[in-house]
Amino acid sequence: MKKEIVNIMNDISSWLRYQKQLGVEGISIGPELSSSFLNHTVQSKASPQELSSTREYRDEIPTETDFVRLRKIVENCERCELYKKRRNTVFGEGPEDAKLVVVGEAPGKEEDIQGRPFVGPSGELLTDMLNAINIFRKDVFITSVIKCRPPRNRTPGHEEIAACFPFLRHQLSLINPSLILALGLVAAQTLLKEKAPLKSLRGRFHQLGNAKVMVIYHPAYLLRLKGSQQLDCKRVAWHDLQILEKEYDKYR
Ligand code: URA
Repeated sequence: MKKEIVNIMNDISSWLRYQKQLGVEGISIGPELSSSFLNHTVQSKASPQELSSTREYRDEIPTETDFVRLRKIVENCERCELYKKRRNTVFGEGPEDAKLVVVGEAPGKEEDIQGRPFVGPSGELLTDMLNAINIFRKDVFITSVIKCRPPRNRTPGHEEIAACFPFLRHQLSLINPSLILALGLVAAQTLLKEKAPLKSLRGRFHQLGNAKVMVIYHPAYLLRLKGSQQLDCKRVAWHDLQILEKEYDKYR
């Protein structure tokens, strides 16, 4: 069988596996998966160096700070009001030399209880999404822009993001990943320093320092959607995940 056909069949089988894991029982035929995005790389406006020089994202973390120290700083953080209601900070977890860092928005209820990232319902979906492209949690570093749970899971405010972002930036500079997967608008806009809607940021790579950033829908958003809207967005997420997989394969 021609290699191309085998590849297409593999893609279809991964897609079906993903849909099954998500509990989808029927599928409608949608537009063909396009490969035209694969080589589409866009330079983001800000490099990590530029970010660190902006007042908005002031970095007060000494460059020599290692992971152990950084974790302690986060555990004791009182930079914004969120520390008052948290049970635990959620620093993130995974190999410190991971090729891929996954960045979410902020911990939810279960993450706050356990002090671990993505262990609630959206974590289950995230795990399935990654597994569907043969990427496993043990191999990636998973964290979020915000390290404490916002009350009632509200979207974090600008001040909270500005206060917390130096931790993420420092994590990224220590890990120095080749790839970053930004989940949802807060992660995407914070990392890329863009105001654009998610629709226009997803589906292509953005360069941030040494890393290529792929933006996809946040699993929590996918879980909130219903019916055909959910299916459409899952299909879009699947498209974006496949682009990520092809790039990730270079670093396996
Ligand atoms: N959503 C996030 O963005 N981060 C978590 O850790 C959990 C849910």
